[in-house]
Amino acid sequence: MSDNERAAILPTPTRLPPPDRPPVTVSIGTSELARSSVFVSELVSMVNRAYGKGRIGEEEARHRLRAGDERPHRNRVLHIAMRDGQLVGCCSSSLFVPWCGPGCGHWGLLAVDPAAQGSGVAAALVHAAELRLRSAGCSTAGMEFSYHVGDPLSERLLAWYEGPLHYVGPSHQRSGFRICRKRLPARDDAKDTKGGGWLVAAGRLGASSAAQIVLFVRWFVAIWLFMFGVY
Ligand SMILES: CC(C)(COP(=O)(O)OP(=O)(O)OC[C@H]1O[C@@H](n2cnc3c(N)ncnc32)[C@H](O)[C@@H]1OP(=O)(O)O)[C@@H](O)C(=O)NCCC(=O)NCCS
Repeated sequence: MSDNERAAILPTPTRLPPPDRPPVTVSIGTSELARSSVFVSELVSMVNRAYGKGRIGEEEARHRLRAGDERPHRNRVLHIAMRDGQLVGCCSSSLFVPWCGPGCGHWGLLAVDPAAQGSGVAAALVHAAELRLRSAGCSTAGMEFSYHVGDPLSERLLAWYEGPLHYVGPSHQRSGFRICRKRLPARDDAKDTKGGGWLVAAGRLGASSAAQIVLFVRWFVAIWLFMFGVY
């Protein structure tokens, strides 16, 4: 195994919060949170302030939160980071996405309240997302980000994702969309029996699997409904 490969399966490094800040706790959002209009509007406002634009609306936020309810087939969930009772960040994770391939989980919608940035919240969220993917049996994690040469946030993200987080992106550093992957270590001791391990197994079986075909049909119908403005 090469040094790069060995480095790519090391656990995600965690950063200690500054001494004057309480630790961050990360949990999975559920319909209980979706029912709280105060929480939903805080979540939407936090994400949109972090991205500096209207990234999500209340209906999407509720939908993402409800998807985290305990059930065998849950795929995409929303990880919620709290510090001292306050919402400070979020990140989604999916056990299966059509564009990532068999056995490859995915995370996205990483957002941290601007007031809490630079204190380890994103590191805790990515760690939680990767842990969920590993626990469910994913061998790889995928993510994408938009990169602009010279833009300070872009440069910081590139340095972090493709540095200490060990994601592997394109070999060039031109502006554009960077599709990154990371090998996750196997975790025999942490099977996520409630978390949709069958989805990962279905992903591993390949496109001929009946379960995967069902998933593709579901996505196809959702996209079709979305395109025709029904969804
Ligand atoms: C990107 C974002 C999620 C980072 O959140 P954060 O809580 O500030 O990140 P963290 O404090 O956990 O730091 C993560 C890493 O970024 C780096 N970092 C943090 N603060 C930094 C700073 N001020 N300057 C340079 N690098 C910094 C560190 O390398 C750190 O890694 P470490 O934990 O191994 O030390 C946050 O800035 C954000 O919400 N941005 C807007 C939305 C966005 O761009 N999301 C990502 C889309 S792909």
